[in-house]
Amino acid sequence: MRIDIITVLPELLVSPLGESIVSRAQRQGLVEIAVHNLRDYAEGRRRQVDDYPFGGEAGMVMKPEPIFRCIEHLRSERAYDEVIYTSPDGVRYDQREANRLSTLQNIIILCGHYKGIDHRIREHLITLEISIGDYVLTGGELAAAVIADSVVRIIPGAIGDEASALTDSFQDGLLAPPVYTRPAEFNGWRVPEPLLSGHAARIAQWQEEQSLERTALLRPDLLEKL
Ligand code: ADE
Repeated sequence: MRIDIITVLPELLVSPLGESIVSRAQRQGLVEIAVHNLRDYAEGRRRQVDDYPFGGEAGMVMKPEPIFRCIEHLRSERAYDEVIYTSPDGVRYDQREANRLSTLQNIIILCGHYKGIDHRIREHLITLEISIGDYVLTGGELAAAVIADSVVRIIPGAIGDEASALTDSFQDGLLAPPVYTRPAEFNGWRVPEPLLSGHAARIAQWQEEQSLERTALLRPDLLEKL
């Protein structure tokens, strides 16, 4: 899989995509992530990527030319399954969408900034707008990092323990059961007995009950969806 991210602040993506599982997945050749500085596609001495909005409101709008140039350049090299724009107006991101994106070959993520992007980009280039939640970030980079991270970690082979990504919270529409490690007793608090039983079926049953209980308590909306 290949993920191309277009941004005016490439530095913001270095650390989130350069550590741990995401970094290892790139080294293993499971995913290629390319970050493009939009200014490299801007013209003029100032390499301007934004301009005043028509209509006179406050704030700046990202200009169409550099974004068209950048995306057309990428498209001349390969076909893309989705051209994503990160925006609070987008469809709410969730695990199901992360799973779907992880099955695609090539995606572009355009990070929004300032007051937004010229609407012609949304009409003619963008195939999918994604919001990571009902709040406003200063830019789309953190949203792009969230999307890339959640997609990469479920590519088969990215997580050492293959089963682990499949038992995440949300993978079956439920919250994950509690997990414990050694010692079996700490400060007088014991790890629940079924986990210490060594009996696979009992452990699985306990985990399933806990999943349902925690989901009903903390996220009853998820149970309604099921
Ligand atoms: N850009 C600003 N806020 C955002 C959000 N909530 N989701 C995605 N992109 C954004």
